[in-house]
Amino acid sequence: MTFENILSETSNGITTITINRPKKLNALNKATIQELHEALEEANSDFDTKVIIITGSGEKAFVAGADISEFAHFDVKNGQKLAAKGQELLFDFVENLSTPVIAAVNGFALGGGLELAMSCHFRIASTNAKMGLPEVSLGVIPGYGGTQRLPQLVGKGRAMEMIMTAGMIDANQALEYGLVNHVTSEEDLMSFTEKIASKIMRNSSVAIKSAIKAINANYKDGVNGYQVEIEQFGASFGTEDFKEGTSAFLEKRKADFPGE
Ligand code: COA
Repeated sequence: MTFENILSETSNGITTITINRPKKLNALNKATIQELHEALEEANSDFDTKVIIITGSGEKAFVAGADISEFAHFDVKNGQKLAAKGQELLFDFVENLSTPVIAAVNGFALGGGLELAMSCHFRIASTNAKMGLPEVSLGVIPGYGGTQRLPQLVGKGRAMEMIMTAGMIDANQALEYGLVNHVTSEEDLMSFTEKIASKIMRNSSVAIKSAIKAINANYKDGVNGYQVEIEQFGASFGTEDFKEGTSAFLEKRKADFPGE
């Protein structure tokens, strides 16, 4: 598939999706959100893709937010539609993908950019990363899940402060907050992220898919996460990966998971 606003490349089990509008600091316009949806859907159904990495092109930004020029003239109804459609196509979609998705945050991750990073399963940042939800400085609030996912990741008080001040935090502060898992130099960001991806790939993709489902269940209204865990745990016993994983352990060899 060819895209106008993103690049998607698969090698060694990793699909790297790069948001590619560097002149606009990779701001998320409608077309980019649609393309990201399509690329993620394709990668998720590709058997050879074991991990997805999302990053931004250029040296300045991961994503500097939703494209302000696209919504500046919107009314109430269009504003609601923008948030609902974006959440459905991209932000909820990424969070619930069965393939692990890592955000490699290589610069500004603001507004919709931080919301995209927070939708990913976890985040790694380079030292030049700057993160924030500046929406109230524009007279709006985060609309792509930011008011929900930021408190989940950093705690309510810190989220309140970040959202109310519209300020940015740097990579080390984000590490201290638990918003990112690791901080690397700019040069090492991709290789470090790929190293973590390789560790993930050694494990059962079927079990990882179940783990994502069970972990996410904790954050869904009216869903009992413990019950989902029991179901997913039980289901693991019926998989070929389980047979291979346990046999390999008992035979003192490395598992070669079929991914079934
Ligand atoms: N939407 C649309 N365009 C954006 C954008 C966004 N969220 N963020 C940056 N851009 C565009 C700028 O308009 C500029 O375009 P131009 O060259 O055609 O004028 C280009 O990207 C470069 O940005 P610029 O502001 O010149 O870079 P900077 O280094 O001076 O500042 C930021 C960087 C990130 C501080 C600044 O771009 C910014 O505040 N962006 C908006 C962040 C935001 O509020 N995001 C939340 C949106 S809900």
